[in-house]
Amino acid sequence: MNTPAEAPKILGLCASLRAGRWAEGAEQLAEQIRGLGCEDDLRAFLKTESLAHLENFVHAGRSEGKPFDEIYANLKREVGNKGLSNSEVGLSAALWAAKELGCRIDLVSLVDHFPPAGGVRRLETLIEKIEEADAIILATPVYFGDRSSLSASLIELFRGDERLAEAVRGKVYTGVAVGAKRNGGQETALIYQIVDMLNAGMLAVGNDSETTSQYGGTVHAGDVGSAWKDDYGLNTSMGTGRRIARVAHQLRKAGDASFIDTLRVGFWVLQDKDGYCVSQIERLVNQTPGGVAASVFDASDADVTRCIACDICPTEVDVDSKYRCIIKRKTDYFKTHHEGFVGLDAVVPVALTLRDRTGVESMYQQFMERTRYLRRGDYVFTDLLTAPLVFEEVGANDSLPLRMLTSTLRHHTVMSRPMIGHLHEGRLLNEDELADSWRAFVEQGKRLATGRLINAAEDADGVRYNPVGYVLSAEKDKEAETLERRRRMTADRAERARQEAAVRLTFSAATP
Ligand SMILES: Cc1cc2nc3c(=O)[nH]c(=O)nc-3n(C[C@H](O)[C@H](O)[C@H](O)COP(=O)(O)O)c2cc1C
Repeated sequence: MNTPAEAPKILGLCASLRAGRWAEGAEQLAEQIRGLGCEDDLRAFLKTESLAHLENFVHAGRSEGKPFDEIYANLKREVGNKGLSNSEVGLSAALWAAKELGCRIDLVSLVDHFPPAGGVRRLETLIEKIEEADAIILATPVYFGDRSSLSASLIELFRGDERLAEAVRGKVYTGVAVGAKRNGGQETALIYQIVDMLNAGMLAVGNDSETTSQYGGTVHAGDVGSAWKDDYGLNTSMGTGRRIARVAHQLRKAGDASFIDTLRVGFWVLQDKDGYCVSQIERLVNQTPGGVAASVFDASDADVTRCIACDICPTEVDVDSKYRCIIKRKTDYFKTHHEGFVGLDAVVPVALTLRDRTGVESMYQQFMERTRYLRRGDYVFTDLLTAPLVFEEVGANDSLPLRMLTSTLRHHTVMSRPMIGHLHEGRLLNEDELADSWRAFVEQGKRLATGRLINAAEDADGVRYNPVGYVLSAEKDKEAETLERRRRMTADRAERARQEAAVRLTFSAATP
């Protein structure tokens, strides 16, 4: 495929300590991925290169039983232009998928910039590569349920180097993690990277709705040269590439139009005491330049029935406006508020967390589990900007802000930096900082909403929930009636997006 120069550029960064590619070899890898045709070609390439990597180790002394430090030294004498480590395999799959969706791709091996004994080299080149990119995929091996030290050094630089900090702000991030164990910490490594990238000012996405809509690519491979065998992991990596490509396109398209409406933000107040969160939301909303259309869903002490974990969720495929949870109690919060959840531009889960829980009302977990029908109802919140807003008393040490982030991301949203208000003795310590974060959130929300409306209006296929892990649901999904309803649902979404785009956006003169 010939990718136009104005297409978004996705930069793959590889944090593998036993990379097969570096220097020109990394550039060659990007060129090789660009030249790959169909998925079968990709898989064949990954297998050949994985086996070549194993061969590198054999030649470097494994066949003679040499100690690993000698093998390692011999490998470093190579030029780094053949073979792929396990992380490189996952990254290549993600980049290939992004390329297939019309993105330009590039690749950098972090061994080129962070030498074994520490320090940084060729920083200027690294910064330029990042500046040129619209989005970044960071692939890391899992070390102790976390990232490798190469990934850690990069993240430190995002915080420590002013130019890099500026370069990454507002760009999209996603990750791929490769571990030797099935559950060796791929997800924890991905989540920690997400948190750090958000705090560096990036927007984060996971993998796509065709795979699992979770936190990125999760590859299960330990031995040198084995990642090509993990079909499931490669699928999640490709899903990661598609997801970041879609959002990068969305943000590029946002440049063609201006958002002339107020942003529709849904605040989900899920844990509160004496209306504190609600009053803080009011304060933030009132000081938003141009205003926002806020819908405050105060569910902290509402009648939120627990999910019954049914095997049909949602009860049927239909348009988004129809309530489709099996729980039909008249006073149930979702039954009575469903329509308000549709048609938003951004979603902000909100909570107050205190050291002393007396008087704190929480519906957090019930609420989250009940949003399942909205997720499985073909991702009602797809591509919406989201970030937790948490007022946290110093010393409360609650896991809630992190849980809000990971649960909300599974709604196929785009995450931005959590907005955390620090409380001490009843006083909000960082009021100005919080107001700045909120204003930045609104600006990002407008940018994303602009691209989303253009994307959704153009994309007749829409986004569908793929019931990975649910055999019963998958069978039901094949029924002709279901498929027809799904077609109606996606057509309805596209039509709404077209109508909204017509009145909420103005297009620049250059746009046809
Ligand atoms: C220091 C170290 C720690 C590791 N910790 C984990 C771990 O916590 N979980 C896991 O699944 N694999 C762990 N592994 C295995 C690697 O993640 C795995 O071999 C991976 O395929 C390496 O990717 P690479 O080929 O790109 O280097 C560890 C390996 C090393 C060297």
